[in-house]
Amino acid sequence: VYERTREIGVMKAFDGESVVVGGWIKTLRDSKAIGFIELGDGSSFKNLQVVFEDAKIPDYKEIAKLNVGTAIYVEGKVVLTPESKQPLELHASEITVEGSCPPDYPLQKKRHSLEYLRSIAHLRPRTNTFNAVFRVRSVAAFALHSFFNEHGFVYVHTPIITGSDAEGAGEMFRVTTLDDKNPPLTKAGAVDYSKDFFGSATSLTVSGQLEGECFALAMRDIYTFGPTFRAENSNTPRHASEFWMMEPEIAFADLNDNMALAEDMLKYTLKFVLWSAVPTKCGSSTISTTRGCSTASTHKDKFEYPVFWGCDLQTEHERFLTEQIFKKPVFVIDYPKEIKAFYMRLNDDDKTVAAMDLLGSGVGEIIGGSQREERLDVLESRMDELKLDKKGYEWYLDLRRYGGTKHAGFGLGFERLLMYMTGVSNIRDVMPFPRVKGSAEF
Ligand code: 4AD
Ligand code: MG
Repeated sequence: VYERTREIGVMKAFDGESVVVGGWIKTLRDSKAIGFIELGDGSSFKNLQVVFEDAKIPDYKEIAKLNVGTAIYVEGKVVLTPESKQPLELHASEITVEGSCPPDYPLQKKRHSLEYLRSIAHLRPRTNTFNAVFRVRSVAAFALHSFFNEHGFVYVHTPIITGSDAEGAGEMFRVTTLDDKNPPLTKAGAVDYSKDFFGSATSLTVSGQLEGECFALAMRDIYTFGPTFRAENSNTPRHASEFWMMEPEIAFADLNDNMALAEDMLKYTLKFVLWSAVPTKCGSSTISTTRGCSTASTHKDKFEYPVFWGCDLQTEHERFLTEQIFKKPVFVIDYPKEIKAFYMRLNDDDKTVAAMDLLGSGVGEIIGGSQREERLDVLESRMDELKLDKKGYEWYLDLRRYGGTKHAGFGLGFERLLMYMTGVSNIRDVMPFPRVKGSAEF
């Protein structure tokens, strides 16, 4: 029977027993007759103190010369040491080298800057900081699935390759099988995408929302969770070209239902991740953009960018609202229609749409969502105003033709949530392999 080595984090349970562990050398110090290795296997933040003695280990001198980063197996006895700094030790009877490591290993035992670690993204999961961040990422994804599953939502996998621009913002990465040096051309001289594998121009999805709506208008409560792509030319600490989005969509529901869902989801996820250390107060506030702008404009000399009704909120305005005025997450609702997507439901004032952005301190926009325009005529005239080609959206308009109903949904930027949860200030440091402008070597 194959018996795997023990995890280093559970050694306490093996007091007095003989075990075999595998791990990497974090530090090594030795004197003539006795040496100490701090051994880590990444399964927890605990390192194991391995004691090895010249009298007991035949190749003592070679072991004492091993470099930080070497992968080894240690067989030995677990001895609890309640009186010393570390709770227990492993007294080695045998140490074997599994994988050697040269002395110029880029991760030496010292503080490395996040910038430096970004340049070695393949090695940074080995640091405590990134071990922690990526564990939070894993648990948070599970928590979100758990929330929606408990609430009876159906998880829908929406396509990655798509023919429609879900946000109508033209920030799509093109996908094509055509030879880019010598593409087939139409009579008018344009690239002939009908000759492409997909028979039309396709891109990587910016959002699974529109396909999600098809399922909400069939199954009531659904969500999507997957990678989304934006070819936006912004090089900021909050934007990535590839990021994960969680998008619930609910039928027979309006903007208030949507906000209530978002708040419940966030509280559940934060509690799940923090487990027992539940914050005593988590809640949110809601303000209209009108109120947000007038609040901010009474402090207008604080800002680099002026605030006025109809402007898009800049990071500094968002931070002002969450960090100085409300001091908790804030829903900003009813945005001017000009700065929001075509599918958002027009309010009775004809000027604003039933949109909601949830802003969090330190991060800004974590969630963007809306009630959807369910009235066919209003939606069509909005698309005309924006000069969107309705031909590609006939299937989307069908949802309004055949039993259309009030419905709503939102997109949670998964990395933004992680930044909010962990306090990590750059999106590159919550993504295993960040895709940002100028970087995709993996
Ligand atoms: O506000 P957005 O663009 O909304 C949508 O895509 C809707 N279709 C969602 C929906 O209603 N189903 O994006 C949603 C969220 C933002 O609030 C933000 O948290 C995140 O996605 N996001 C980004 N995260 C990282 N990098 C980027 N470039 C992002 N763009 C948006
Ligand atoms: Mg948005």
